[in-house]
Amino acid sequence: MSENLQVRTPEASFELPITDGTIRATDLKQVPTQRGPLATYDPGFMNTASCRSAITYINGDAGILEYRGYPVNQLAAGASHLEVAYLLLYGELPTPDQLASWEKQINTHRLVHENVRELIDAFRYDAHPMAKLMAGVASMQTFYPSSRRIDDPEAREMNIIRLLGKIPTMAAWAYRHSIGRHFVYPNDELGYVNNFLAMLFQSQQRVYRADPRVSRALEVLFILHADHEQNCSTNAVRSVASAGNDLFTSVGAGIGALFGPLHGGANEAVLGMLREIGTIDRVPDFIAGVKEGRARLMGFGHRVYKNYDPRAKIIKRSCDDVFEVTGVNPLLSIALELEKIALEDEYFVSRRLYPNVDFYSGLIYEALRFPPEMFTVLFAVPRTAGWCAQWLENMTDPDQKIMRPKQIYTGYRERTFVPQDQRG
Ligand SMILES: CC(C)(COP(=O)(O)OP(=O)(O)OC[C@H]1O[C@@H](n2cnc3c(N)ncnc32)[C@H](O)[C@@H]1OP(=O)(O)O)[C@@H](O)C(=O)NCCC(=O)NCCS
Repeated sequence: MSENLQVRTPEASFELPITDGTIRATDLKQVPTQRGPLATYDPGFMNTASCRSAITYINGDAGILEYRGYPVNQLAAGASHLEVAYLLLYGELPTPDQLASWEKQINTHRLVHENVRELIDAFRYDAHPMAKLMAGVASMQTFYPSSRRIDDPEAREMNIIRLLGKIPTMAAWAYRHSIGRHFVYPNDELGYVNNFLAMLFQSQQRVYRADPRVSRALEVLFILHADHEQNCSTNAVRSVASAGNDLFTSVGAGIGALFGPLHGGANEAVLGMLREIGTIDRVPDFIAGVKEGRARLMGFGHRVYKNYDPRAKIIKRSCDDVFEVTGVNPLLSIALELEKIALEDEYFVSRRLYPNVDFYSGLIYEALRFPPEMFTVLFAVPRTAGWCAQWLENMTDPDQKIMRPKQIYTGYRERTFVPQDQRG
């Protein structure tokens, strides 16, 4: 049965078709107002769908996250990150042969041009690694001019493979540069995550071998961060792509958006909060302060999830595996106590505030000895798979146009120019 929205003005009434629970904003234009055709005002896209997408499904009330229909907990339990990247891009899980060939393709494209190494090297010693990563990715467009052929399916696929192959290399080098260590080149013998860990932690004196529990935990974190539908950085990728831009320019913009503390930086804030609390006996006081509006419980609450973030549950389990290797992060007991109290407290329960993905991830990254500036980089590397899939979907969607929102103009009108010598 078809649904319609009835809009009545004093002069007329209009029937707007509802499709997939939405009305087309352009259908509103037939409704006249004193300021012209009716439009919507939606800062932050709180209730506006910008695209149709078949990649990631979220039901925030029920705490569901699925990639191409597969629940993220099943993928985290049994898949590899490259398998998930294939799923996001092509819509199906790869067969064993497809996976082997996919891994081979990605792994042979890990090496970056020496000029990119020099580009990273040219940054100041204390430059943030996200700035280096953003510059490295944006520069790829100049090394691979085929990326500008956005209508050529083969060129699109080739450049996605290049980006997935090279992003861990650039991320690891951005880190090595900030700690003043030599750059470690990719090792063909190692898989995606183990090679990334080696490029991060290998020293000249000793061969680095990642503990399998650590590499699996990082792989799980990669899978959990691979995509999250139309979040701020994905919207940035799609928006830049909508102007006809190549993958590297678009993903460079996505990295910029992710850099923002409201998006990729919350786990760093969680660690700051746990440190400030300091000891378990100070947790009740801190919670009281949150309820009085003196602080926020970082790592709690989410724009979409009004239930336990499904990713947080999985990450909490990964903490145990990592701490078996690294020793328990002393901040864990404070986090557990905070969670226990908050989940029973009326303030948090009534506002449906639950732990989100960032509540525990920072504890793992810290236990693995990553400095806080690297946390967002560790988000950007796996999210590149989602950005690539979303970029591709945007490029091949006949509904998409250059993104250009309307505004409600609130300024002056029709003023007469006053020459400089007659002003003031
Ligand atoms: C994620 C976040 C920005 C979502 O914000 P939002 O959807 O706009 O929700 P609101 O800020 O409108 O919050 C709704 C209510 O819950 C309260 N609230 C939300 N998150 C809270 C938190 N972490 N601690 C304490 N109170 C919180 C708000 O004060 C508000 O209360 P009120 O109704 O009495 O005014 C917010 O929950 C937050 O700041 N969380 C902490 C930062 C974080 O962990 N970010 C990572 C997200 S993955």
